[in-house]
Amino acid sequence: MPLTETLNREALRKIVRKIRRRAEKKKTDISDHLETLFVESLNLKSRLIVELGVGDGESTFVLERVANLWGAKLISVDIEDRADVSSFRDRIFVHEDDIAFAARFPSWCRERGMEPVIDLLFIDTSHLYDHTVSEIRDWFPYLAPRCKVFFHDTNMGEIFVRKDGSTGKGWDNQRGVIRAIEEHLGTTLNEKTDFALEHRGWFIRHFSICSGFLVMDR
Ligand SMILES: C[S@@+](CC[C@H](N)C(=O)[O-])C[C@H]1O[C@@H](n2cnc3c(N)ncnc32)[C@H](O)[C@@H]1O
Repeated sequence: MPLTETLNREALRKIVRKIRRRAEKKKTDISDHLETLFVESLNLKSRLIVELGVGDGESTFVLERVANLWGAKLISVDIEDRADVSSFRDRIFVHEDDIAFAARFPSWCRERGMEPVIDLLFIDTSHLYDHTVSEIRDWFPYLAPRCKVFFHDTNMGEIFVRKDGSTGKGWDNQRGVIRAIEEHLGTTLNEKTDFALEHRGWFIRHFSICSGFLVMDR
């Protein structure tokens, strides 16, 4: 059943307003994408959401709201201790390297009575090429047949620009994230542009602002 049938529009608008306010108040390298992350998560009934890279909890703020709407579990993974960024009851924080955790993910899930099948996967960690290649290799096998993957930092550089023209300091990751995605998909992508395309069963959308954000659905 579509989520909009189970929730009234005003409840959804309220959440969007809250996310917008947060993004306006706290301008970060991901603030422009928080609303997209939320809205994009509404058309897929999720039971399991995995967040790789918690940082200061901007994506967690959104994903815990998505999990709450769907009655899903949110598993947040970070190599640093980021347990305290959220007190959402259905969030489990895993303090571990995400590649090491991927190897024991099925047994970890089954010990907790969960199926190791991911509906929404959010990736925002080191932004390095080798690491992103490993994340795709080790986490994509757990994706549900119908799923969504979000990558932040597909368009990194010394400076990033937000929609309102404000800027922030970034760094050049040598196209690490987008290059790993290109290789996985066997295609080239121009991360300096916004685009929407279909490739190998994935519907892919890209937003070039604010360090870049890529959404892929299948
Ligand atoms: C840019 S921050 C994440 C920002 C967060 N998504 C947000 O919206 O606020 C990157 C995070 O990835 C974590 N990280 C880096 N390498 C990692 C790894 N190998 N495994 C797990 N977490 C990692 C860092 O500790 C850091 O907290």
